[in-house]
Amino acid sequence: MKNKVCMVTGANSGIGKVTALELARMGATVVMVCRNKEKGEKAAAEIVSSTGNKAVHLLIGDMSSQRDVLDVVKKFEDQFDSLHVLVNNAGGLVPRRELSVDGIEKTFAANHMGYFLLTNLLLSKLAKSAPSRIVNVSSSVHHYAKLDFENLQGEKKYGQFQAYSLSKLANVLFTYELARRMNGSGVTANCMEPGAVYTHFYGNSGAGLKVFSSLFGWAMRTPEKGAETVIYLAVSPEVDGVSGKYFKDKKAVRSSAVSSDPELSARLWKVSESLVKLS
Ligand SMILES: NC(=O)c1ccc[n+]([C@@H]2O[C@H](COP(=O)([O-])OP(=O)(O)OC[C@H]3O[C@@H](n4cnc5c(N)ncnc54)[C@H](OP(=O)(O)O)[C@@H]3O)[C@@H](O)[C@H]2O)c1
Repeated sequence: MKNKVCMVTGANSGIGKVTALELARMGATVVMVCRNKEKGEKAAAEIVSSTGNKAVHLLIGDMSSQRDVLDVVKKFEDQFDSLHVLVNNAGGLVPRRELSVDGIEKTFAANHMGYFLLTNLLLSKLAKSAPSRIVNVSSSVHHYAKLDFENLQGEKKYGQFQAYSLSKLANVLFTYELARRMNGSGVTANCMEPGAVYTHFYGNSGAGLKVFSSLFGWAMRTPEKGAETVIYLAVSPEVDGVSGKYFKDKKAVRSSAVSSDPELSARLWKVSESLVKLS
């Protein structure tokens, strides 16, 4: 991965941190995107010290804020001429309905709109750097999501699990539409599920999930295991040119029937565009 530039969001913790670490170990230039400067600096220093790779950079931004996403892209473009791998990973579960600074429900804003906006703002850079890859971290819970365009942001009814699973369904729909749009450009887009991984995700997701993970953490995957398929999709020659697929344990598998409906993907893309508040 020498001479390759890779961006990983949510890179200070869990799956994102392991991904950033392994990419750095392979010699890539790694750009970590984190929302908390202190946590980001600590993780970046750990990655540099354990890999010996000094080409580890940090950009700060909350992916639920469109202004922050734009600032991250501007700072990235000031420093780097190319981008070969983009891993959209930052995300979580928001226990109560809250709005982002842009007035968008926060789970949807960070987990879907963050991926959507960051990717679109970086697409020309990715295309210029082709062959290049986009990896979107989704979840098996997308299978349980109810897609109601009238309640996309929990306007009528909010449940933390419904909001989260919907955002992860949006990751899959977004990936498939993106892959269609980028067909022939040399930019591939795939998504994946990491399994149930013992990370801060559960500690940050409200009391119920915190208790669940403290009881069952021993049976869950390590972040290293959870990151395996992300890293595979980012670097493996086995997936050269493969695009528009959903992966589990390094194998392309079927995602839900709803996620595979191209009309829904196209509709979600349009709705997402309309939610971009940047002028
Ligand atoms: N753990 C699982 O079982 C599991 C299963 C399926 C899918 N996933 C997905 O895997 C991805 C990574 O989660 P993880 O399990 O590694 O959890 P994690 O350890 O909590 O890591 C999540 C990372 O995303 C960052 N983040 C969250 N919201 C953000 C925002 N608005 N802007 C910028 N960064 C943000 C977090 O930053 P802070 O440290 O500042 O909070 C952290 O760096 C998520 O997309 C999650 O949906 C996880």
